[in-house]
Amino acid sequence: MAKIIAGVGSSHVPAIGAALDNGKTEEPYWKRVFSGFEKSKQWMANTKPDVAIVVYNDHASAFSVEMIPTFALGCAAEFPPADEGWGRRPVPVLKGHPALAAHIAQSVILDEFDLTVVNKMEVDHGLTVPMNLLFGTPKEWPCPVIPLAVNVVMYPPPTGHRCYMLGKAIRKAVESYPEDLKIVIFGTGGLSHQISGPRAGLINSKWDKSFLDNLTKDPKKLTRIPHLDYMREAGAEGIEMVMWLIMRGALDDKVDEVYRFYTVPASNTAVGHIILENRRKAAGKSKRPPAAKSRHAAARKAAHRIASKGRR
Ligand code: DHB
Ligand code: FE
Repeated sequence: MAKIIAGVGSSHVPAIGAALDNGKTEEPYWKRVFSGFEKSKQWMANTKPDVAIVVYNDHASAFSVEMIPTFALGCAAEFPPADEGWGRRPVPVLKGHPALAAHIAQSVILDEFDLTVVNKMEVDHGLTVPMNLLFGTPKEWPCPVIPLAVNVVMYPPPTGHRCYMLGKAIRKAVESYPEDLKIVIFGTGGLSHQISGPRAGLINSKWDKSFLDNLTKDPKKLTRIPHLDYMREAGAEGIEMVMWLIMRGALDDKVDEVYRFYTVPASNTAVGHIILENRRKAAGKSKRPPAAKSRHAAARKAAHRIASKGRR
């Protein structure tokens, strides 16, 4: 069975990609940002996922105001980097996982989430920057990627609650895929930022930190935040943060926060990053109710006692 073992949250600031592509990573301003991802790259290298599901948003590169799906799942065999106006980023073409992606599409659509199936798509900084932050700058990406593009650029974006529930549906889909695959899911974008208008440059660290705290401890509280609160507190582009709730919904209710990084600013944005792991369940432990409540369970327990006596 395929399994989501961990979630990664990461900002996607385009200037981070430009700093990488133009050899500026050692400049003090950028070193502060990149140094926060050193441990994460190590974690990823140790974790070695078989597939990454990357929840991200397209910034009018693949879609536009003419047509923008709320949730679009990349089912193609590959996803080239998009030209965002200054040429394609020099990052490898992403390989997809069409079989698992098609399985997820089928499962979540039959679960009443109306996904758009995308069989051809170029991906912009929303996806390539978090890939660099977690995987570095390899010649080839070490695992296939399933992109899930979410509309957070044109009103109305999906609610945080719907995102969270979609995460749960994705988890169910993954767990009904027969192949043993270790999967890491990314939630990307944010944190607080506004890139135009009178409040351009807005950053709200208090809001961001509370969001990260609750993401680990009480994500259901976050699902009740209305769009206007994101706009008011985290800036017009802060709404990107709802994508982190898809990642969180795909994890266990209780998770271990194994890493967090937060720095201000990078470009106009507060950079936030978190790694959440599902707790490893002891082998053979089941989630059944307490044994005393069921005669069958009592019988099973007795049988187990007998069996283990026999082994002594
Ligand atoms: C910036 C941040 C974004 O998330 C984005 O998509 C574009 C620009 C910025 O901080 O400059
Ligand atoms: Fe963005």
